[in-house]
Amino acid sequence: MTGKDRYAVFGNPIKHSKSPVIHALFAQQCAQPMVYRAVKVELDGFVRATTHFFDEGGAGLNVTVPFKQESFKFAQRLSARAQRAGAVNTLIRAQDGAIEGDNTDGIGLIRDLIANLGWNVQGLRVLLLGAGGAARGVLEPLLRERPQELLIINRTAARATQLAQEFSDLGPLQGGGYDLIGERQFELVINATSAGLSGAVPELSGSLLTERSCCYDMVYGAEPTPFMRWAAHHAAWAVADGLGMLVEQAAESFYLWRRERPATVPVINHLRESMAAG
Ligand code: ATR
Repeated sequence: MTGKDRYAVFGNPIKHSKSPVIHALFAQQCAQPMVYRAVKVELDGFVRATTHFFDEGGAGLNVTVPFKQESFKFAQRLSARAQRAGAVNTLIRAQDGAIEGDNTDGIGLIRDLIANLGWNVQGLRVLLLGAGGAARGVLEPLLRERPQELLIINRTAARATQLAQEFSDLGPLQGGGYDLIGERQFELVINATSAGLSGAVPELSGSLLTERSCCYDMVYGAEPTPFMRWAAHHAAWAVADGLGMLVEQAAESFYLWRRERPATVPVINHLRESMAAG
């Protein structure tokens, strides 16, 4: 035993997770006595592994694919934003011993867009591609920034329609299939599909961009993603990947656990450089 508070990320697969590096850099920066490791959990073993982790004195967990819904059910209490997202990426042991669930993905996206990239959401026409867990997790914080409109487009139109209905109390929201884009144009386009992971780009016409449009891919990599290449090809004003979102969601988790906010930009830069170096 090290005498340090123990944290981990549970997922499957987990090998390429950057979370241990990110949290080690945060801990060093803030001089926090903690250790953080990545754990591959069997697909049917989430509840067992999580119960064991907290029984053994673990202080907090990040939870990633494919366990975010299971951790939502596992949590004894939920924050309002986790409740809305229907998913939990952060588990916290509260003062009274209860395990609380929160979701920091959405705030991570908003901080990256606004604080790091200097982009805006308020008053803009926003297009969100995808209607899976990644899209659902960012809808509430996006709508809270008061876009002029938000259109959710998905390959399976019914999932987008359903999401739009569920969040319609929070702002001007519409959902459907790709044909719904028609002649419309958007100043902010966010890719929340997993299409890029298999090298694909959703079918999109370049005419949906204006000369001021910003395009954000929630996925990241050493190379520009297929969606980023599509955006650059169609002369988007600015293009970014999701590395900053990853670091920002981690910073918010760190804050929930340690009540201290690490500086994120040096960590983003560090990761970017080490990714470029291979
Ligand atoms: P996640 O939690 O990452 O959002 P998910 O719930 O499996 O994962 O959702 C993946 C999203 O990417 C979905 O919106 C999916 O569209 P469908 O609902 O039609 O499956 C979208 N997606 C995946 N591959 C795609 C592709 N090649 N083209 C367009 N959309 C794709």
